[in-house]
This record gives sequence, C-alpha cells and structure tokens, in this order.
Amino acid sequence: KSKEKVQWVCSNCGYTAGQWWGVCRSCSVSGTMKEFHEAKLGDADINVSGFSVLEDGVGSWLPQQEGELRPLRLAEVNAGLDHLHWRIPLSGPFGNELSRVLGGGLVPGSLTLVGGDPGVGKSTLLLQIAALIAEGHHNGEASPVVYVSGEESVEQIGSRADRLRIESDIYLYSSNDMEDILKKVQSLSPGALIVDSIQTVYLKGIMGSPGGIMQVKECTSALLRFAKKTNIPVLLIGHVTKSGDIAGPRVLEHIVDVVLYMEGEKYSSHRMLRAVKNRFGSTDELGVFEMSHSGLQTVSNASEMFLSEQHLDSEILAGLAVAVIMDGSRTFLIEIQALCLSGSTSSRQVNGIQVNRADMIISVLIKQAGLRLREHAVFLNVVSGLTLAETAGDLAIAAAICSSCLEIPIPNDIAFIGEIGLGGELRVVPRMEKRVYTVAKLGYRMCIVPKAAEKALGTEGLDKMKVVGCRNLKEVINTVF
Ligand code: TYD
Ligand code: MG
Repeated sequence: KSKEKVQWVCSNCGYTAGQWWGVCRSCSVSGTMKEFHEAKLGDADINVSGFSVLEDGVGSWLPQQEGELRPLRLAEVNAGLDHLHWRIPLSGPFGNELSRVLGGGLVPGSLTLVGGDPGVGKSTLLLQIAALIAEGHHNGEASPVVYVSGEESVEQIGSRADRLRIESDIYLYSSNDMEDILKKVQSLSPGALIVDSIQTVYLKGIMGSPGGIMQVKECTSALLRFAKKTNIPVLLIGHVTKSGDIAGPRVLEHIVDVVLYMEGEKYSSHRMLRAVKNRFGSTDELGVFEMSHSGLQTVSNASEMFLSEQHLDSEILAGLAVAVIMDGSRTFLIEIQALCLSGSTSSRQVNGIQVNRADMIISVLIKQAGLRLREHAVFLNVVSGLTLAETAGDLAIAAAICSSCLEIPIPNDIAFIGEIGLGGELRVVPRMEKRVYTVAKLGYRMCIVPKAAEKALGTEGLDKMKVVGCRNLKEVINTVF
C-alpha cells in the first residue's frame, strides 16, 4: 500500500513543493504554503485534477465512484459510439458559425471553456448560445438552459437578454457556490448549463478564494464530472489574465474537452472565435462575428473584413497591396501597407509582420530587384491589427514596398499570393487553389501567383480573373508596374 503523500501547496498561486517554504518560491507571497494530503492512487481522480481535495460533504459528483471505470473491449466501446457522434445541432446562420468552430455542434456531456479578455463579449455570446439551445432546435424538442452567473445579478442578465431580444426558456441563477449550483441545476435537468465565470465560483472545503488556482481547478473538475455523469453539456466562461492565461499556467485547458478563445480588436466590432483544443473535432476552425447593438451577428463578407474601407473605394494610394492568407479553412484578403521615405535614416518600423521576415524581404528587394531601399526608411503595417503568420503574404509585402518606393499605386483589383526565397524567386504556398478561388469570387481582375502554381490551377471557376504566374520578383514588377 502506498503511503499518503504530503505536499505543500501555495494557496495564492498553486505552486506545489515537497517541503514547506515561508515564502512561496513561485509567487513570492509569504505565509501561503499550506499542508496538503494527496490521496492514495486509486481512490481519487488524479488524472483529472492532479490533486484530490476530497472532503466529506463536498458533493457526490466530486469523487469518482469505485467500479465506475474499467477497461472496455473495443467492441463494447464501438457499440456505444453512436452516442459519441451525436451532436446537439445549432441551427441558423449564428448556429452554423458556432458549429463550424465546435466541429459540427455541441457534444452532449462535454465541458467547453470559452476564454477571452474582459469585455470582449463572452457573456453576450453564451447568452445567445443559451437561447439557441433553449429554442429547442434539437429533435424539435425544447429544453431549458440554465445560465448561472457569479458576476451579474439575475436582473442584469435579464436586461441583457431583453436587449438581445431573447425570449427563450432560460433559467437565470446568480450564485457563487458550486455545490448549490450543481444541486439546483441537476433537479432541473436542462439541455445545457452555462457558468459565468469560473473565476467567481468556489467549492466549500477547498482552500483559496474564488479565482485562486486550486478553486479554479477543483471547480472545473467538478463541472467536468457533472457533465459526464448527467450528459448535460456545460459551457464555462474564463477570463484571460494579463499574462494571457486563464487562472495561471494553463491548468484549465488540460481538464476541459473544448477550449474556445474569443478575440477582438478594441476599436473594431469584429469578434473571432477560435478552437484551440477540441477532443471532438479539429482545432483550426475560425468563427467570425460582429458585435452589434443587438448582440453578436454573423459576418456576410468575412473574406473582405480585413481590407480597409479606403481600399474598397476606388481611390488608390501607392504602397498598398492585398495578400491572401488562410486561417483554418477560411481565406482572408488582407491589406498590407508600406511607406518608403527617402533621404531619412534607414530605419525599419514593422507592425503585424515578423521583423526578421520583413528584413529578409527588404534585403531581397535590394539585391534581386535593384530597389534602392538602403537609403530609405521603410514602414510596414498590416491593416486591422492582424499579425501575419504565413509566408504566403511575402509577395504582397514586397509589392507594397515596391509600390511605395516607385510611387506607383497598385490597382485595387489585384491580389498577391506567394512566398519569396533569398534569390528573389517565388514559391508555392499550401492551398493555392482555395486562395485563388476566393480572390476570383470577390471579383478581382488579376491574381499574381508563383509560376509553378499557374498551370496546376487551371481556369475553371475563375470567372474573368486572370491568374498570372511569375518566376521571380523582377517578373512581378514588370507585370504590375
Ligand atoms: P460582455 O458580453 O459583457 O463581455 P464579457 O462577458 O466578455 O466581459 O460584453 C462586452 C461588451 O459588449 C460590452 O462593453 C457592451 C458590448 N455589447 C454590445 O456592443 N452589444 C450588445 O448587444 C451587448 C449585449 C453588449
Ligand atoms: Mg461577462
């Protein structure tokens, strides 16, 4: 029999050590290390939380009952697989966008974490999801949804629902006590449970205050077990802290089934929902929404949302070029802006592009295309605060610099796709076809691509758009300027 292991855990940050320290070695707060008994292997769910803080009266969903889990035959598992593949369908344009991110719909008994900066719109999103599920689109059978908030009063949520014109069968409950919440929810047996937010709920008998790492961990584990036992999908909101995590070092992400992050620029109404973990589907899907006065709405022209308004007008300035990048299975057209100033210091200011990549492209333009950029200050910017993670944008960056340097505007119906090599040669990037078709669908007149991709693309479905293959930067310059 293994001996009970004693550990010391900081009640402030969750740092764990084999001995007591007066000052926590991780967060440097003094007097926070508390003695902690890790349960023996076998009678606690060490897998899920790493710890087990199981005290009497914490609630039956906390410890896993003995004999509940056992190794299963593959055949036994497959017999129950239908249930695993079943998703709660989310209908309508808003529901479709959500389903895309979730990989086909909400899985019964799953625990989904929705993270994001405070104020980005998480509560709004989840209230809308609650309405969607409660409207009873699955099996035509209406089932209520419980929305529990530890942050807002029932009246506050009610008035938000009123603004969003939600009239579905939603139960609102304002509480911080996990045990109380789960008890009340279980008796309602709803179609889904929403908890806003994990930082505001606590479990009695667990050390630390709400939002502390131990509380966050244990409350999430309790919700996971609740979801698995009752088969009720649970959606959980988590605020992202300044360091970019939800409650310290990504502990939550390991516990839950699905992690969605909601992102958005402060001064833009666009909101993006990204799956960063998904036990039931792929993670590279992106959902795009717009925050309006009546809540989140789907965006009709998502591919063009990163183009500036000036670009869509006919007024054309030098130094602008359109790149075609992919995010998940989505294609976006992104405007790259360049400004070359002669006669000043040769400084480089880059925004939204990796500095090394920009330096390389500028150097290649100097050496292989004969551009006199050595005496120029070069400023580069990606419109809408996005960061280019793909080399597919190289060609557009180079084109924007050329345009500004030569002071010749690029017509706003030309798009650029391609990676640039050190010799100034153009290289093919993944999913050329998808990119080119998106550009064609948006009514562009010309798309510049690497020569090697030109033939494979064909002309089918390209409408009137001309695909021009170029071997290197010199050919691009000759074609465009
Ligand atoms: P909220 O969902 O409360 O954000 P979070 O839960 O992530 O902190 O909403 C954030 C912002 O959204 C808030 O400042 C107001 C704005 N908003 C709208 O623009 N339209 C709406 O219909 C609603 C409900 C909110
Ligand atoms: Mg909120």
